[in-house]
Amino acid sequence: MVEINNLFEGVYCIDNIVRWYVEAKLLNRNIIGVDINDTALERCKEKVDFEHEGANGRVYLRKGDARHLDFISNDSIDLICTHPPYANIISYSENTEGDLSLLKVKDFLAEMKSVAKESYRVLKKNKFCAVLMGDTRQKGFMIPMSFDVMKIFQEAGFKLKEVIIKEQHNCKATGYWKTNSVKYNFLLIAHEYLFVFKKI
Ligand SMILES: C[S@@+](CC[C@H](N)C(=O)[O-])C[C@H]1O[C@@H](n2cnc3c(N)ncnc32)[C@H](O)[C@@H]1O
Repeated sequence: MVEINNLFEGVYCIDNIVRWYVEAKLLNRNIIGVDINDTALERCKEKVDFEHEGANGRVYLRKGDARHLDFISNDSIDLICTHPPYANIISYSENTEGDLSLLKVKDFLAEMKSVAKESYRVLKKNKFCAVLMGDTRQKGFMIPMSFDVMKIFQEAGFKLKEVIIKEQHNCKATGYWKTNSVKYNFLLIAHEYLFVFKKI
């Protein structure tokens, strides 16, 4: 087991969110980033490898599985930020073991229970856990995965503090969905949710 709590008090972030690492470093916050995918971690390492006066936050990137955070002690993290895959809507690898982006919605949601449980375990009391999550559509009908994930985090013990809607337009896949939305008569999904939970 790696003892990192004394060194890396501060933000913990599952699933690479590179901008948050940069911000943490600039704001002198120490951050632990965990991702299952080597390529994602390499990309993040490149982005945080910069010098800036006064930017002394330490960024500790680690290959790991958000379902098993054995290297982090109970009640030791000040803030969790996570942006999980949206099941297999976008697959981030072809066959990485443990990659949740390879799972169909039902299996993905089952595994998110472990992510929520581990997140709850490592977070300090009275601190926050932010989860960015989106929905999808199958055969023309909405699959509200984000609300399923929200409930999973609540069932793990978190209290829902805020629901923030993040609009998004002109994404990589928008063209594909736009064509189909006209053809099959449905609205485009142009938002995702940032759920903010509190451990009390
Ligand atoms: C939606 S992406 C996050 C992208 C992020 N917003 C960014 O800008 O880099 C989801 C990430 O979850 C990672 N992931 C998939 N399964 C995981 C697991 N079991 N544990 C930790 N990370 C995982 C993927 O490799 C991918 O990098």
